[in-house]
Parts: sequence; structure tokens; C-alpha cells
Amino acid sequence: MTQTTPKQDHVLIFDTTLRDGEQSPGATMSHAEKLEIASLLDEMGVDIIEAGFPIASEGDFQAVSEIAKNSRNSVICGLSRANFNDIDRCWEAVKHAARPRIHTFIGTSPLHRDITALDQDAMVARIHDTVSHARNLCDNVQWSPMDATRTEHDYLCRVVETAIKAGATTINIPDTVGYTYPRESADLIAMLLERVPGADEIIFATHCHNDLGMATANSLAAVEAGARQIECTINGLGERAGNTALEEVVMALRVRNDILPYRTGIDTTKIMGLSRMVAAVSGFPVQFNKAVVGKNAFAHESGIHQDGMLKNKETFEIMRPEDIGLAATNLVMGKHSGRAALRAKLSELGYELGDNQLKDVFVRFKALADRKKEVYDDDLIALMTEASLNDEDAYLQVRKLRVICGTEGPQEAELTLSIGGVEKFVDATGDGPVDATFNAVKMLFAHDAKLELYQVHAVTEGTDAQATVSVRLALDGVVFSGQSSDTDTVVASAKAYVNALNRMVVHRHRGNLSALMSSAS
Ligand code: KIV
Ligand code: ZN
Repeated sequence: MTQTTPKQDHVLIFDTTLRDGEQSPGATMSHAEKLEIASLLDEMGVDIIEAGFPIASEGDFQAVSEIAKNSRNSVICGLSRANFNDIDRCWEAVKHAARPRIHTFIGTSPLHRDITALDQDAMVARIHDTVSHARNLCDNVQWSPMDATRTEHDYLCRVVETAIKAGATTINIPDTVGYTYPRESADLIAMLLERVPGADEIIFATHCHNDLGMATANSLAAVEAGARQIECTINGLGERAGNTALEEVVMALRVRNDILPYRTGIDTTKIMGLSRMVAAVSGFPVQFNKAVVGKNAFAHESGIHQDGMLKNKETFEIMRPEDIGLAATNLVMGKHSGRAALRAKLSELGYELGDNQLKDVFVRFKALADRKKEVYDDDLIALMTEASLNDEDAYLQVRKLRVICGTEGPQEAELTLSIGGVEKFVDATGDGPVDATFNAVKMLFAHDAKLELYQVHAVTEGTDAQATVSVRLALDGVVFSGQSSDTDTVVASAKAYVNALNRMVVHRHRGNLSALMSSAS
């Protein structure tokens, strides 16, 4: 039996970072990155991983199939629209999982019925047929009435009843446009539980978007009313203002267990590592004051707060940094730290390395420690993220960069790039060192993508701090993000830019590079 039933006092965590999260413009992730994130989510104890939308592209199909094959404990779910083709393709991908799930949906509000040109009866018939079809393939079927919070209550009850009768085992109630309000969110679940026959035999899920900043509150209110599955993403990644953030609901359920007496199976110490990983691969840095995972979430600036913290941490902290995987003591590493200390430190941060991996990371660590006196936890996390982003088979790679800058312009960049295995050199000028470097990249790899975002964050404090640079490029309406960290901001910039270009190359399909490059020299 693959159905996932929570124990009485449990709430299931359904993570959709790889599907709804990846839908945010520019958050496209590579195949390898998706696999890595899925494996971390599985390890963290996520009950259901929505791994993608298999019909959307061959890449999505391959990613969902492979995540399904590699899955250990989590249920692996794929999304499909309300038609047999989508559902069959979804099943082909998820069926490899030990515990597969098909998720199918249709927009049920008046606005969506208009778009699909289905009247109420025709839509009910479609729901019956598609959910029955899915259930014939898989005994774990989730159904969602998209835009549920703007669907007439009588009609919502009717479609939910239809889906349950057709075999849906989970009914998800999406607040697709982030329109609802906590009390309303709770009332909606309570209304469905009371009015729909068979509602007590299935699980209700809540799926909230954050357009009015109420996603987490709306999800928790739904739980209070009887929902037993929360759909969420790491860092709240998702379309527009994003989704309910996994770290927020999980920590809220833990800290306020007095009023929300439900538990999750999440190992919260993995939260910080995943948050950083998702920020890096999606190119969406976490805002400093973000709840739970923001850089300032455990920082205490004012004298009164610092004094209180020294006397009793609980004065100003409702959770402990170590609960989310932030080491309590920020033990500083340096160039005299040995391999064993590095292994212990990385293990504390949630990275368990084999001997070969450790050897490789140790070399990088030594190089960093040579340039930077003190290596903090955040530096090590940036180093690990960098290693996972650094694809040795990438089409474009920064080999060498030398920049001349200062008060006397124009600034100049001498750059060697490896392009498809062939090294090319150019000398370019620009308005500042980053501009000169980007001009050099463009001269070596000509393209029409527009730079939409260039952002620099210092990983730690001090003039020798590593910089994390995020770059976002847009081409023909598609956005590609890249990120990189280095103690040299210009090197990090070059690598982040090249990283984004590599994603563009992958997107444009290997082999069709001539269409992408207007004139590479
Ligand atoms: O927000 C939404 O309605 C969705 C559905 C596909 C579940 O993401
Ligand atoms: Zn959504």
C-alpha cells in the first residue's frame, strides 16, 4: 500500500521546490541539481517530494524518473493536468519510485472554467474520468481544484466529492493566487470536512501562495481546521511572491506545539543546508531578515538584546540556531586546520564526505584559507555549494582572469575561457572591472541574452570576505540564473555569469549552439 497516512498527531510535509519552486522565473535548475536537492529532501524526512511536471519537457520527465529511481523513503509525486496524456506521462516517470504518487489538477473557479470552456457539469465529468484513470494506474492519487479559494463553495464540495468517489486519496486545496486569509483558510477546510461525503477517509492538503504575505499563516490555519498535509518549498521559492516556506511551517509547528499539537518527520538540522543549496542553485538569495533562515534570524545587534542573550538565550530566541543546523559555536577554521578538523566541521554543518570527496574539498579549503585568514561556517557552506555548482563538464569554464582597475580607466580584463573544451583568450575593456570582464565573456561567447540582475553579497564580514555573486540573464522570455562565490568579487562575477550562460546552453539543447551564438571568436 503506497498511500501515505499521517498518524493522528502528524502533519505530512509535501515539498514542491522542484515543481512549483522551479516555476519561478529564472529558478530553472539543472538535472544534477534537482537530483541533489531531491536526495537532501529525502534525507531530511520530507514525506512527499513533488519532483516535477513530467509532460512539460523531456528534461522534466528525465528528472522525475531518476528522482523516483533514487528515492529512499519519500513518496515521489509528479504533476499532470486533467487529461489522459499528461497522467500517463506522469505515471511513466513516477512509477519507478518505491512509493509513487500521481497529482492531477484542474482550475475550478469561474475564471478557470471560462478558460477551459467547460461548464460545471462537463468539468465534473472530466474530473471523474481523469481521477479514475490516474487511480487505475496508481493507488496514491492527489487531486487539486486549482484556485479553490475563489471557487463557489457548493461547486467546490461537488468537485471534491467527485474526485474522492473516483479514487483520489489526497485532496489538495490550493490558494493559487495567495488571496485567502487565515480564518477563511481554516473555515474552508472545516466546511469541506463537514459537507463532503467521504471527506474523513482522505487527507486534506493545503497549498498556499504568498501574494499577501499570509501563506504560512494560511497553511497553519488549515492544519488547525483538519488539513494533514502542508505543501511548501524551501525558502518559499515559487511563482510571484512564492509559496509557504517549509522552514517556517516546520519550525512554527515545533515552537508552537502548545497550540498546534502536530509533529512532522522533518530533521530540522538539515534546514539551513538545504536553504543555502536552494538559494545557490535557484539564484534567489535569501533576504537577510527572512524568518528562520535569513542571515539575521539569529543576529542580535542592540546592546539590550546582546546583554539579554548573554544572560539567558531564551530572552530573545524562540528557537536555537543548532535546531536548524546552524552551529551554536562558530568555531573558526584556518590554514593550520587539518583534514580531521575539516571533516568534523563539515559533518557538524550537515555534509558527510567520503575520503575522495574530502581530499578534493580539503584542497579547495586550503586555497581559501591561504587567501582568507579565518574561514567561518558560512565560508565553508559557500565552498561546498560552489563545489556542487562547479560542473567539470560544463560547456563554458573560466580558466584565467586578470583585471586591471583603478582610477585611470578604461578598466581592462584578460580572460581565458574554455569553450567546449577549447581554450580561448581575449583582452577587453569596460566601464569598471566587472563590465570589462562581462565584455570579455561576451567577446568570447557572443550571445543576445540581456543582463537582468547583478547582485553581490558578502558571505561573512571583513575585507577578505568571500563574495557571492548572482547573475540573471534573459533570452527570448526565458530567464537563466548563475551564482558563484570567491574572495575575489570579479572572479565570482565572471563565474556566476558563465554559470548562467551554461544553463542557457543546456536549455537551448546541446548541438544547437550555432543558433545561440551570433558570432563567437
Ligand atoms: O498553486 C496551484 O494552484 C498549484 C496547483 C497546480 C496545485 O500549484
Ligand atoms: Zn502553486
